Amino acid sequence: MPAGGFSGPKGGGTEFEAKITPIVIISCIMAATGGLMFGYDVGVSGGVTSMPSFLKKFFPVVYRKTKNEIDSNYCKYDNQGLQLFTSSLYLAGLTSTFVASFTTRKLGRKPTMLIAGVFFLCGTVLNAAAQDLAMLIIGRILLGCGVGFANQAVPLFLSEIAPTRIRGGLNILFQLNITIGILLANLINYGTNKITGGWGWRLSLGLAGIPAGLLTLGAIFVVETPNSLIERGRLEEGKSVLRRIRGTDNIEPEFLELVEASRVAKEVKHPFRNLLKRRNRPQLIIAVALQIFQQFTGINAIMFYAPVLFNTLGFGNDAALYSAVITGAVNVVSTGVSIYSVDKLGRRILLLEAGIQMFLAQVAIAIILGLKLKDNPAESTLPKGLAILVVVFVCMFVSSFAWSWGPLGWLIPSETFPLETRSAGQSVTVCVNLLFTFVIAQAFLSMLCHFKYGIFLFFSGWVFIMSVFVLFLLPETKNIPIEEMTERVWKQHWLWKRFMDDHEGGGAVFNGLSPGLHFRHSVHVLFLSLSLCES
Ligand code: BGC
Repeated sequence: MPAGGFSGPKGGGTEFEAKITPIVIISCIMAATGGLMFGYDVGVSGGVTSMPSFLKKFFPVVYRKTKNEIDSNYCKYDNQGLQLFTSSLYLAGLTSTFVASFTTRKLGRKPTMLIAGVFFLCGTVLNAAAQDLAMLIIGRILLGCGVGFANQAVPLFLSEIAPTRIRGGLNILFQLNITIGILLANLINYGTNKITGGWGWRLSLGLAGIPAGLLTLGAIFVVETPNSLIERGRLEEGKSVLRRIRGTDNIEPEFLELVEASRVAKEVKHPFRNLLKRRNRPQLIIAVALQIFQQFTGINAIMFYAPVLFNTLGFGNDAALYSAVITGAVNVVSTGVSIYSVDKLGRRILLLEAGIQMFLAQVAIAIILGLKLKDNPAESTLPKGLAILVVVFVCMFVSSFAWSWGPLGWLIPSETFPLETRSAGQSVTVCVNLLFTFVIAQAFLSMLCHFKYGIFLFFSGWVFIMSVFVLFLLPETKNIPIEEMTERVWKQHWLWKRFMDDHEGGGAVFNGLSPGLHFRHSVHVLFLSLSLCES
């Protein structure tokens, strides 16, 4: 998923001879378009939802409400259909991940990326040309399928094509590109809102065609990964591709490892059953909790609905979209802070600091709205100074999320699962994340209507709970090699050590294999596990 689905082994591992070849550079471009495309879809819906011409055409009821024909400021946008426009993408993404796991394994990474590109293109055309709500929602569903296929195949493709030493970097690049995609969508919405004639939203939705087209073209021109060819029994072809992408003839050791990994992967029969074993429970609990918590920070209330939210506070359309651009930019820059500091300061410090910052920002927003935003739209909108202060607090919230729960929600599961269950664990992580993303997308505007300013207290309550969770239950994993996690992390923890049993210590099953092999093995287990999930 989104970012961080697959990270290379940390802390040592076999380094095979490999150059940064043009094919590897194309992989980076793929990462950029895959991430951008996903981010663009996340960011674009809120902006168009706040455009009057869009509302008038598809959601006339909501349009009338925004024209003050309502009795509550907070309920202008409370409409299940409107929320479905945003949320349907995540439901489709969640479902299609399972089909994508099948095509990734049986057909290969390249065709799966091509399928993703075609879904994205079809979804974009339907959305940009939409005449009615059905076309709009079907378009979003197709985009969601694109997300499911792309997020399954692109990170995997990257991790298999890239030499080990740049694998982690590419992983974070994918996350960074999601935030850049969100920002681009915000900027484009700001621009297209100014177009007279009421078709600006079509341009916003249609411009997603650029990254979609790039991804499709990329998928046509890139090579299939050696791992996929070997997995499907095409050994000689796999070997020749490996030679081409590594830029050297000295590929025998890596080739043999891939063949061995493929063999071992085929032997793992029940990865999900493994995941449920007692000794793997701490990592599973942490991964699931992190995904639920990440979404219950309330971040996507901002990412999806910032313009709508700012409109609710009484901002004009232009100011609302402009403010969304500011929060989008803060998101990108702060993700950079995380890349820089995560291995220096550690995960816990970032999460705990962010917990305090998010909590204070949310409580401050709740107080301002509670005191100053009257329910009755005829009576008040927020005074300008206070409205700006709300934007400042939203930025404070977004920045702390972007250097903590955003990237770390993905990074920590990818580095804590023992090697035997990492891939099954990753697929659970992705599913839980998309499920709760869907829940927030579908529920936020209704929650805003019912809880009013209290919605921010609701999220701050969750931030408090998750910070306590981090304080007591999340061990530090900074600079700990994956092979040493059990000894140095789990067996040292006051609670989790009870789950560690020497006879079946985490990761012991594959302790004979090198980290490189472990990693590849885990990727193969992912396919097996997802196919189990399907059945
Ligand atoms: C989350 C997304 C969110 C994004 C915002 C990601 O880590 O998984 O749900 O939209 O961060 O930057």
